Amino acid sequence: MVEKFSSISTRKLPTAMSVLTRNNMIAISDYGDFHRYSKRNIMMSMLGFTAQKQFRDTRERMVSNVVCALHKLVTDDPQSPLNFREVYNNDLFGLSLTESLGEDVSSVYVEEFGREISKKEIFEVLVHDMMMCAIEADWRDYFPYLSWVPNKSFETKVFTADARRNAVLRALIKRQKERIARGEARASYMEYLLEENKEMTDDQLMLLLSESILAAADTVLVTTEWAMFELAKNPEKQVRLYQEIREVCGDETVTEEDLPRLPYLNAVFHETLRRHSPVPVLTPRLVHRDTTLGGYDVPAGTQMMINIYGCHMDDKVWESPEEWSPERFLGEGFRGADRFKTLGFGGGRRVCAGSIQAVSITSVAVARFVQEFEWRLRDGDEGKEDTMQFTALKRHPLYAHLTPRSATK
Ligand code: HEM
Repeated sequence: MVEKFSSISTRKLPTAMSVLTRNNMIAISDYGDFHRYSKRNIMMSMLGFTAQKQFRDTRERMVSNVVCALHKLVTDDPQSPLNFREVYNNDLFGLSLTESLGEDVSSVYVEEFGREISKKEIFEVLVHDMMMCAIEADWRDYFPYLSWVPNKSFETKVFTADARRNAVLRALIKRQKERIARGEARASYMEYLLEENKEMTDDQLMLLLSESILAAADTVLVTTEWAMFELAKNPEKQVRLYQEIREVCGDETVTEEDLPRLPYLNAVFHETLRRHSPVPVLTPRLVHRDTTLGGYDVPAGTQMMINIYGCHMDDKVWESPEEWSPERFLGEGFRGADRFKTLGFGGGRRVCAGSIQAVSITSVAVARFVQEFEWRLRDGDEGKEDTMQFTALKRHPLYAHLTPRSATK
């Protein structure tokens, strides 16, 4: 994929994705000036190593808020399993809004809806509906000569989701522009874009912000939830992780500085990325020059889907690929570069822009959750491994019994 990039760098999008992205997002754009310029902007302002430093407090506060919320739920009702996603999502989405727009909002008035909508509804419209719609299939994509036949249910669904997303984003952007006009500048992707590119249209700004909000909120949620599911399901691996944290951090709270000294935590992260890859199939590509891939001749014009899930479950590469086993990323046989054996973040020039953020948030969050609580799955949930939407969101939210570690010492 990386070697043959020059022959497969353009995209061939299904209709739903074309409508929702209008080719104005980094991840779906063809490789060229727009892609290079936009990727540079998001790295400089939000996701690159230096940019990430300015959001460190926000990340730490986010994880601490979730830990506090979990403690409160457990204290109020120690017997019932809690819905992890419901708690985590609120603060993770808040972080995504803060980085992209400069503010974590609790509600916003949307003119087109004629009412104020809550943060939960903003999430539904900007993240959940987009991820569900992205995999909405239009059968006419497979029979282009029948493209004149109406497909009303598909069109209504996708165009409605698009219109709702645009209305909410317009409202959010308007609110931030009013803030900026009052002289209250903050570090954010939006302010960088406005400063950097005065020619940018409102539509372009909206689509780029839609992408950053969506990508930052969704994939990290997916990964963290799968990691906590596996740790709750595999108590002996959870104990091993807890012991590592105790040895390295003692009674101190885990921070990003500790990550290089926590190899088992790192292995938990990469094994989760392998076994439950949040992006199981990459956005389709178009082979625009005759090429060979894996020994096959592939003619120009071929549409290509890269099956990451398939690569991660290949038993010629991975022993017992069905098993979730962080140990495979440890020990003598493991070299640092082997981490890139997983294609979880893609590779080459289209490699994920948010990998630094994804690793630091997920790793610190998982470590803090295990440091604070012993996790046990709700009875009967062990086999609930189905997924839904474009990224591999757990179909059944994780319900777990949490016991504060302070109660077990
Ligand atoms: C565990 C979490 C994450 C995973 C597994 C993941 C995975 C991926 C994958 C597989 C790609 C596509 C590579 C390709 O098409 O070849 C990608 C691209 C991208 N990701 Fe992520 N991602 C994660 C987190 C994030 C975060 C937090 C952001 C922040 C906004 C982000 C922003 C992007 C962007 C902008 C691209 C487009 C890069 C390009 O086309 O050059 N991702 N990601």
